[in-house]
Amino acid sequence: MAAALLRLITVATAAAVVLGHAVVQDPTPRRAGSSYTERCGSVYAEFMEKDRAGPIEDGVQEAGSEIGCNPYLCRGYQYEDNAASEYKPGQVIDFHVDLIAGHRPGYANVSIVDLEANKIIGSPLRSWDTWPNSTATTRRSDIDFNVTIPSTLGAACSTGGKCAIQWYWYAIKNEQTYESCVDFYVTA
Ligand SMILES: *[C@@H]1O[C@H](CO)[C@@H](O)[C@H](O)[C@H]1NC(C)=O
Ligand SMILES: *[C@@H]1O[C@H](CO)[C@@H](O)[C@H](O)[C@H]1NC(C)=O
Ligand SMILES: *[C@@H]1O[C@H](CO)[C@@H](O)[C@H](O)[C@H]1NC(C)=O
Repeated sequence: MAAALLRLITVATAAAVVLGHAVVQDPTPRRAGSSYTERCGSVYAEFMEKDRAGPIEDGVQEAGSEIGCNPYLCRGYQYEDNAASEYKPGQVIDFHVDLIAGHRPGYANVSIVDLEANKIIGSPLRSWDTWPNSTATTRRSDIDFNVTIPSTLGAACSTGGKCAIQWYWYAIKNEQTYESCVDFYVTA
């Protein structure tokens, strides 16, 4: 009886966890730090650190009104806690997404974001109408892909902290958002 109940609870918990989870692994994305905790609040920051691949909505719900950052920009992570990589126009950057659970599809895109304005620069570098792609084979085109740094960025991304490459996945049925940012600047 107790064993059956325990099994039931275990199954229910597993089902609750397997909704969707993913995070960019390469290039090294923006991570947590003291500025992040200060701005977003410790409730959000500590909750989100428990699962770096978890959805933003769960942390927002946990934190309630205590959240002082924009969690939907780079998952709330702050540039001050990180460093930007130098890329060249036309450079091809390989990405790997750590897809932990993606049974509920949605759509995904990768864009360059003007961090101060919180606006996308130009058109998306990649976009998928259905993500994850259930028919993708090795090498999986949905989690292993590349983006090309546009040659049209000009001064918009000339120093660290101005721009990031943001990977974005929205799982429709779960209504859950996943984001990872890669800080960069361009030199000619
Ligand atoms: C990526 O998808 C999100 C959600 O629809 C959207 O807000 C964002 O503008 C999209 N990015 C691009 C570049 O289309
Ligand atoms: C899904 O994966 C298959 C097999 O790798 C590929 O042919 C197809 O283009 C992919 N679809 C998308 C939308 O990327
Ligand atoms: C980038 O990915 C495409 C497939 O989307 C592939 O054909 C191309 O060889 C890759 N480029 C580099 C430089 O790896």
